[in-house]
Amino acid sequence: MTTEAAPARLDRTPAGVRLCALTDIAERGARGFVLQIGEARFHGFVVRRGPEVVGYVDRCPHMGFPLVQVLDAYQTPDGRLLQCAWHGALFEPEDGRCVGGPCLGASLTPWPVRTVDGAVVTA
Ligand code: FES
Repeated sequence: MTTEAAPARLDRTPAGVRLCALTDIAERGARGFVLQIGEARFHGFVVRRGPEVVGYVDRCPHMGFPLVQVLDAYQTPDGRLLQCAWHGALFEPEDGRCVGGPCLGASLTPWPVRTVDGAVVTA
């Protein structure tokens, strides 16, 4: 029996990668992305607030897990904060700062993204 090693995880991406149309993310929604870059993978998510987008590496500062266990469920039910599904950490969507839970005061790692001609792209 052979075992394959998990692909290496990246914490940054090259600039200019088109991720989706801005309208593919709800006006106050969030969406996850996995980019295959060579043999490695990058896991991140983008939060949209109207015309503005903010990106984060999908890795909780508490224990390093991806935030969600359900596809794209990055937000609290009222949509005001981001949440980690594992131990309940809460984050400000605008700057990724933890405002509740086991990693209070820590922050999500920013993933630079921006909009260009109605598309969300890496920056
Ligand atoms: S891994 Fe996110 S709160 Fe523990």
